[in-house]
Amino acid sequence: MAFKRFSRRQFGRLAGWSALGMSMLSAKSSTAQSDQATGTQNQRLSSDFPSGFLWGTATSAYQVEGAVNEDGRGPSIWDRFAHTPGTIADNSNGDTAANHYHLYKEDIRLMKELGTKAYRFSIAWPRVFPEGAGSPNPKGLDFYKRLIDELSANGIEPFVTLYHWDLPQALQDRVGGWTSRDTPKAFADYAAHVAKHLGDRVRHFFTINECSRLVHLGHGLGADAPGLKLPQSGLNQVRHHVALGHGLAVQAIRAHGRAGTKVGPAENAVSCIPAIETPPNIRAAEMATRELNAGYLTVMLEGKYTEAYLARSGQDAPKFTADDLRVISSPIDFVGLNVYMPDHYVVAADNERGFTLAPFPASFPHMKASWLRPGPEAIYWVPRHVAKLWNVKSIYITENGTSGSDQPAPDGTIYDVDRIMYLRNYLTQLQRATSEGVPVLGYFLWSLMDNFEWSDGYEQRFGIYHVDFNTKRRTPKLSASFYRETIARNAVV
Ligand code: NOJ
Repeated sequence: MAFKRFSRRQFGRLAGWSALGMSMLSAKSSTAQSDQATGTQNQRLSSDFPSGFLWGTATSAYQVEGAVNEDGRGPSIWDRFAHTPGTIADNSNGDTAANHYHLYKEDIRLMKELGTKAYRFSIAWPRVFPEGAGSPNPKGLDFYKRLIDELSANGIEPFVTLYHWDLPQALQDRVGGWTSRDTPKAFADYAAHVAKHLGDRVRHFFTINECSRLVHLGHGLGADAPGLKLPQSGLNQVRHHVALGHGLAVQAIRAHGRAGTKVGPAENAVSCIPAIETPPNIRAAEMATRELNAGYLTVMLEGKYTEAYLARSGQDAPKFTADDLRVISSPIDFVGLNVYMPDHYVVAADNERGFTLAPFPASFPHMKASWLRPGPEAIYWVPRHVAKLWNVKSIYITENGTSGSDQPAPDGTIYDVDRIMYLRNYLTQLQRATSEGVPVLGYFLWSLMDNFEWSDGYEQRFGIYHVDFNTKRRTPKLSASFYRETIARNAVV
């Protein structure tokens, strides 16, 4: 059977891509592609990223800081959860983690060694408001001021996440955490406080990290803090409150940050990949993206829940007002996307939804973590779908990376070539996206260093720097060299 061959540009046109002004292939790569279409082999596709592309690394407070009882920090739901027997694979917790709270200067040296120009970290809400609300802890933001000043002194820009899952335990106890509308309000007050006090130092804020994981794993499956297993109606209401918290925080940052401060979510959108890259499958993957993210990016960017989501939820649908939807869809400046894997391969179908989600065969490969199925094209399609569906003009990849077994070889080096293979393939696909005009401005590798991987404890290591959790010593893995080279050349190596 003969397959008709399309150049990528023709392909884009068929997919309705260029109609949206998104097929801005760079002159260099379009030449290379037409050569490719005519079968000429002697010209290589450009592997450059756009100039000024922002390279960074990412961490989160509870996963790296430690120092849980220092300088007036209150307990978070993750302290409580991790100290509850049976919750964490290796019975560990984040009490000392990587001790970033004390070793941050050393860690900034590591960032500098890599050549990164941005660092994404989160603020621990219970350091700032130990009781969740009310009086702020005067020492709460001091650590972050020190951290940011040290970053600035080293030419590294802070990208601050306001909520990476460490809700003050007091809010869980007092109002039921995200099951209550009081929590989004308290979150907005905390965001306002941070914007007032760090607004002179921070230009980019992320509201909530991975709404969908904190909803599903924290409140549905009970695998993450606070360990709840709510019925569907309760879960849908939590999802609504989390979205509301995002919107209220956007408004608080606008009201209290400096003019020009930028804000957006950092979401692990359900990633829908066309199983075969034909126009009907691409369209089906776009529809699936919109539908399967209905309670998150879709409502944030459209200001409404899709009819299918409400119909599917029936009596369990969340209770909300028209004003809630206006708040949730407050204008944002960018979308942050955590991309690890394809969640679904999609095939166009003649059914009510217009798509079929292909089941994963048992033979599909995975990285060290069994959930992490490598599908590098996810990092091409997710930003492309988001840009096209919602006309988003600025996107950051806020996380991407993998854990590995990371055993030192006899010469002492950790040759983590599986991580390098993973990163190289994902970055190649990301470069494909930027070269076609998908507006991805930067990339934050998860993670700078090994850290507390939630319910997997320290058994899953995601760092490009190895951490000895007894001595807290940091050692570069081979992937740190890979990342340094990539950054230096602004191209995949
Ligand atoms: C996403 C989360 O934001 C981060 O905290 C976690 O460590 C990575 N995924 C890896 O699972």
